[in-house]
Amino acid sequence: MGPVRRFDLFSFLLVLGLVLNSFVLFCNGGQTSSFVRKVEKTVDMPLDSDVFRVPPGYNAPQQVHITQGDVEGKAVIVSWVTQEALGSNTVIYWKENSSKKYKAQGKSNTYKYYNYTSGYIHHCPIRNLEYDTKYYYMVGVGQTERKFWFFTPPEVGPDVPYTFGLIGDLGQTFDSNITLTHYENNPTKGQAVMFVGDLSYADQYPNHDNNRWDSWGRFVERSTAYQPWIWTVGNHELDFAPEIKETRPFKPFKHRYRTPYRSSGSTEPFWYSIKRGPAYIIVLASYSAYGKYTPQYTWLEEEFPKVNRTETPWLIVLMHSPWYNSYDYHYMEGETMRVMYEPWFVKNKVDVVFAGHVHAYERSERISNIAYNIVNGICAPVKDQSAPVYITIGDGGNLEGLATKMTEPQPEYSAFREASFGHAIFSIKNRTHAYYGWHRNQDGYAVKGDTMWFHNRFWHPIDESPSFDS
Ligand SMILES: *[C@@H]1O[C@H](CO)[C@@H](O)[C@H](O)[C@H]1NC(C)=O
Ligand SMILES: *[C@@H]1O[C@H](CO)[C@@H](O)[C@H](O)[C@H]1NC(C)=O
Ligand SMILES: *[C@@H]1O[C@H](CO)[C@@H](O)[C@H](O)[C@H]1NC(C)=O
Ligand SMILES: *[C@@H]1O[C@H](CO)[C@@H](O)[C@H](O)[C@H]1NC(C)=O
Ligand SMILES: *[C@@H]1O[C@H](CO)[C@@H](O)[C@H](O)[C@H]1NC(C)=O
Ligand SMILES: [Fe+2]
Repeated sequence: MGPVRRFDLFSFLLVLGLVLNSFVLFCNGGQTSSFVRKVEKTVDMPLDSDVFRVPPGYNAPQQVHITQGDVEGKAVIVSWVTQEALGSNTVIYWKENSSKKYKAQGKSNTYKYYNYTSGYIHHCPIRNLEYDTKYYYMVGVGQTERKFWFFTPPEVGPDVPYTFGLIGDLGQTFDSNITLTHYENNPTKGQAVMFVGDLSYADQYPNHDNNRWDSWGRFVERSTAYQPWIWTVGNHELDFAPEIKETRPFKPFKHRYRTPYRSSGSTEPFWYSIKRGPAYIIVLASYSAYGKYTPQYTWLEEEFPKVNRTETPWLIVLMHSPWYNSYDYHYMEGETMRVMYEPWFVKNKVDVVFAGHVHAYERSERISNIAYNIVNGICAPVKDQSAPVYITIGDGGNLEGLATKMTEPQPEYSAFREASFGHAIFSIKNRTHAYYGWHRNQDGYAVKGDTMWFHNRFWHPIDESPSFDS
């Protein structure tokens, strides 16, 4: 009996060894995380939740948010809503420890959507700020005054470290609140958020109940009032609803959120570019025309030659719909834009592309797929060290829940994928190195679920394939 058993064990180990070995041989496509999370319904926080509380006081400014207001980072656009009355359009601001106060004058608007009427939405650009400086600012002047602060970025230049947060598809569920809390409590502090689209998900309510745009604005104020969020538009910003005669796409987004698009020569708020410290950030619009001769195409074609890697070594692109996505959900939706623009991305050595849309997390290898020409049949992604890394970070936690179904087997170009909610941090150290980490909501604030050292494609384009990892 003994010898027989031992033989069985031996052959079992042998087979196991062969199986594991074959994984090593054939699964070089990457890793599908085995992390098991609690499966539970993702629901919006009720309107009487603490995060949606209206600030006290008559006509108190609410939904305060800031974004970069020019190309270089010396301007900020301050936005807020007053509900009871128009109130003041003025922002008073001053440098930390300085008694000299400045005033800027903004504008306000309201809009109607089906049977909803918005409060007074104020936008006020403040310009000629000093770099790398803490400013305080006050809104609600003469009524209920509220005070906030922000830091301006360092002067645009190649070796100024800067840390970006990444959040996408946030929504306003209990999970959204956990994502934002994890971002805030991450020991590596983000200085600005690159937001990859899909903000409030108000369009999931009957008649796109725009009160959920207001509640979202109050929810995120605890971050958006203190650091700029760089906005990308997603499909949930379209609010295109012919059934209730709402046929102007992006109406609520356009009234509530500003982008500095004119500064970069863009003609619509949905695509634009900014420089921030060592980074050149190009924001693209997945839901505006992008074919040849369209305004976005013409703009982007003229945009790439403007990027000077000696000034801004890091070239980052934000968009909503990912080009490389190995989940079943939204599979190939980014394909037409990829076909149009990918050759430019490779030629210009974009370092990284961040997208949302798919409610999960994925990171690609450096790959491109630009050889195809209708007749040659060359249509599979290949490893390409001039190509960007593609990261899908649509895992903010909105009410639609997680995208869990993946295409199998995992494609070779996909380096890591996991269906969990979370956020990421892209921390630029200098012109050659940036450290990237993705954080899932189930872990402690400091824990990283996926990491990568980025080596700048212009200054230090060393091979980043797994076998050459350094
Ligand atoms: C402002 O004053 C505080 C307290 O005196 C000090 O810690 C801080 O460094 C000062 N900041 C600047 C920018 O001077
Ligand atoms: C808007 O219409 C919906 C249903 O059609 C109704 O429930 C809601 O109370 C209306 N809101 C306003 C502000 O009239
Ligand atoms: C949201 O998160 C904040 C910070 O962790 C917490 O104080 C608050 O109670 C949470 N609210 C809800 C509705 O989960
Ligand atoms: C690129 O930027 C550097 C550093 O600011 C500057 O010296 C150089 O003239 C710029 N090159 C071009 C072509 O503008
Ligand atoms: C750039 O940053 C990396 C990572 O922190 C470091 O190893 C490298 O020495 C730095 N390069 C320079 C020139 O300082
Ligand atoms: Fe989306």
